[in-house]
Amino acid sequence: MDSDIVMVDDKGKRVDGREANDLRPMKIEAGVLPNADGSAYLEIGKNKVLAAVYGPRECHPRHLQDPTKAIVQCKYNMQSYSVSDRKRPGPDRRSAEISKIISEALESVILTELFPRASIDVYIEIMQANAGTRCAGLTAASVALADAGMPMRDLVPSVAVGKADGKLLLDLNKEEDNFGEADLPLAIIPKTDEVVLLQMDGHMTKEEFDSAMKTGVAACHEIYEMQKDALRRRYSVGEEEEVEE
Ligand code: CDP
Repeated sequence: MDSDIVMVDDKGKRVDGREANDLRPMKIEAGVLPNADGSAYLEIGKNKVLAAVYGPRECHPRHLQDPTKAIVQCKYNMQSYSVSDRKRPGPDRRSAEISKIISEALESVILTELFPRASIDVYIEIMQANAGTRCAGLTAASVALADAGMPMRDLVPSVAVGKADGKLLLDLNKEEDNFGEADLPLAIIPKTDEVVLLQMDGHMTKEEFDSAMKTGVAACHEIYEMQKDALRRRYSVGEEEEVEE
């Protein structure tokens, strides 16, 4: 941490004017890519993320097929132009790690046992990045899966809670992520509050961790409402037309 840089002023305001427990402005739209089986576009603060779902379909490579269930193959990709220093294009260790944890989180809600030997392919493209892209990607991907009509136990909202200037802050932006002391991305199944993704870098006390989890879970429920609203908007057009008739 660089102690010269102030992340929270003496009135408790953050660098972008938010209070500690405020999410960045968020927008979700379902069904934005007609060629995909399901899709979603999501903005949170300066993050811009697209998720596309294909399947269940034949699993390639075939040796990955599981005779008991479908596998979930997520590809998280950060575009070169998504960050201010051009990112080297193509897969790297970071995107492999994020793809794996997102696949696992989604596997915990998809009824994969209904589709033996199949693959459910989830593509996440980060078009603009400003911290929290793994959470934004997972939030968008679960809306895209629901848009594809995938049988699922629930959606998976995700957000990070961090710490900067010794204070717990919800949904860190890039400056807070860079100069803060901790970052704790998490995702839950809202119906049961089960945690399906949890990572942390930096350090927190046990009390801070407990408090961060509480804040993060509550924020996931806020995001869950926005996910459901996006799906409602996507499928409400027909109903409106029916009313007009
Ligand atoms: O995006 P997220 O917080 O889930 O992952 P991170 O690995 O903690 O990265 C935090 C942020 O650093 C990203 O959202 C990008 O804004 C930035 N970043 C970057 O500028 N260049 C990279 N090669 C990777 C990340």
